[in-house]
Amino acid sequence: LVFEEHLIGGASIDAHGTPLRDDVVARARESRAVLLGAVGGTRWDDLPVDRRPEKGLLRIRKELGLYANLRPAAVFPALVQASTLRPEIVEGIDMLVVRELTGGLYFGEPRGSAVVDGRREARNTMVYDEVEIARIARVAFSAARLRRRHVTHVHKANVLETSQLWVQVVDEIAREYPDVELAHQLVDSCAMLLVRDPRRFDVIVTDNLFGDILSDEAAMITGSLGMLPSASLGDGGIGLYEPVHGSAPDIAGQDVANPLAAILSAAMLLEHSLEAPAAAAEIRSAVTAVLEEGHRTRDLLLPGEARPVLGCRAMGDLVLGRLGA
Ligand code: IPM
Ligand code: MG
Repeated sequence: LVFEEHLIGGASIDAHGTPLRDDVVARARESRAVLLGAVGGTRWDDLPVDRRPEKGLLRIRKELGLYANLRPAAVFPALVQASTLRPEIVEGIDMLVVRELTGGLYFGEPRGSAVVDGRREARNTMVYDEVEIARIARVAFSAARLRRRHVTHVHKANVLETSQLWVQVVDEIAREYPDVELAHQLVDSCAMLLVRDPRRFDVIVTDNLFGDILSDEAAMITGSLGMLPSASLGDGGIGLYEPVHGSAPDIAGQDVANPLAAILSAAMLLEHSLEAPAAAAEIRSAVTAVLEEGHRTRDLLLPGEARPVLGCRAMGDLVLGRLGA
């Protein structure tokens, strides 16, 4: 593998005054895959939205055409106790959130803020066309075929026209997959069901905004947001892989972050972009082994638990030690 490092987000703002430079997009385009660290931090919080670190992330997703964001949320048996939900609810959770990533409220025009009649006003636009919905639906149905063959489409069709179009188009695409079962679920009740009975979900497909919110919820009920990887794919053959968690500015520089979501993102990279499923499986078993031996970073500790806590580097080294062992 040949690696190149480039800046995005806050680091790029500090070095170059912009969250993502054109030449970085160009280098990414020439790669097979991008492994990305989290962007953002309190230092840049006062910047307007179009100059913030997050803009770099949104732009690279859009420019690389990465419309399908896969966020698996499965529970590691060793971490069942780390969930805030009771173990009998959590055991066996295994879902995949398929989030639309390059459309909807995040990118819709018109957007912006203005002063109108002496009042500050701001607007965003939620817009989807049928092609955007059909292609993400196909990703979800195809993924379900490799799993438990159940897709839940999450929407707000009792209020939003965009969601009504989603329901129609997802129903149409479902006919191409008669072997996969489809359910439509309102987003508010889905948020409720995720904490009441998370095991009922196999594949969840939803728009950009709902997917952002529900994927954090799905991740957290498995025990720690620090565990979950994601893949962003499109039709261009490039994949982008990043942890679901954010940059956690409150613990930056202290060597206490959990590196496992980033490591598992590299596993997804091997699997989806480099056709190396065996290497991916090796990484996953190394992570599982380290957890089963009882090693924990701070975020995985239970209240009152008296185990030694590993730092980010030490956890990374342990996983590395298990690889090729
Ligand atoms: C995520 C993040 C991003 C998003 C932010 C950092 C722009 O929350 O990947 O879920 O909203 O997509
Ligand atoms: Mg998010």
